[in-house]
Amino acid sequence: MTTPNLQIREDGRLRHFLSIEGLNHNLLTEILDTAESFTGVAEQSVKKVPLLRGRTIVNLFFEASTRTRTTFELAAKRLSADVLNINVSASSAVKGETLLDTLRNLEAMHVDMFVVRHCDSGTAHFIARHVLPHVTVINAGDGRHAHPTQAMLDMFTIRREKGLDFSRLTVAIVGDILHSRVARSQIHALNLLSTGEVRIVAPRTLIPASVESLGVRVFNDLREGLQDVDVVIMLRLQRERMQGAMLPSENEYYRLYGLTEEKLSVAKPDVTVMHPGPINRGVEMDSQVADGPRSVILQQVAYGIATRMAVMSMAMQQRAVQNSNEYT
Ligand code: CP
Repeated sequence: MTTPNLQIREDGRLRHFLSIEGLNHNLLTEILDTAESFTGVAEQSVKKVPLLRGRTIVNLFFEASTRTRTTFELAAKRLSADVLNINVSASSAVKGETLLDTLRNLEAMHVDMFVVRHCDSGTAHFIARHVLPHVTVINAGDGRHAHPTQAMLDMFTIRREKGLDFSRLTVAIVGDILHSRVARSQIHALNLLSTGEVRIVAPRTLIPASVESLGVRVFNDLREGLQDVDVVIMLRLQRERMQGAMLPSENEYYRLYGLTEEKLSVAKPDVTVMHPGPINRGVEMDSQVADGPRSVILQQVAYGIATRMAVMSMAMQQRAVQNSNEYT
């Protein structure tokens, strides 16, 4: 699945952004630093910079999304790009047009970037292998495989909350690891940023085989897994990807793995609580925790804009630099 050369140019810069695998510490840090530089744009009276003026970005979402699609759209608009949002359920895909034919037709409109979400793992890589040389592809979530911009906005959130040094942090990812593209991307990103300890906490049925090879400690008991953690990232049960009975019931899951104030009390007092969304209240977490003082769930959404601005501008860096020179 990993094709590092596909997403990195010969000079080491981003070409596409498809997965965290294949990237390196310096590139991740550059994305986080660039995102930091974009946070001020939201505070400006005119929330725009001209970096991608004249560029056309297509949001191609074959799967439902609230946060990712809208923050990609806002990020592109804040970079002054033109944005097309393709409603796939109302496109010719439903009349039998192939994915490649859809791409060719959009490319004929001189687009510069596709932001792609699809239920099949590998779709973003497939598209990246087939686009014209000047077109960039960003993976906005493919099947169970990867959701790299979500992982980067999560790393940005952790850095904002806990500082630059990840090596002194213990981070627990709790819930449906088996079906989670977010967890996979987060684990790779946390490892690349040299996080002190990465834990996953889940029932045995929701843990992928050989997950220890990813460099994580595995816990089946929530209280043990949360002991002294600095950050806890809760995940949604991905019912749409489950085949057969993997859990006794949602009530039982909540009793054992649902995050409550009482269970959180074993973590560090200043623990940060995160969730990529959408949240299922009363399934993976209690509202008191989700809306409580240690939750940064809505900050994650806000940071998604700056982080996606960073990834998009870096992947189109050459043209972005040319464009910004026009204004200096
Ligand atoms: N976190 C996330 O990917 O949310 P959406 O499915 O709403 O985009």
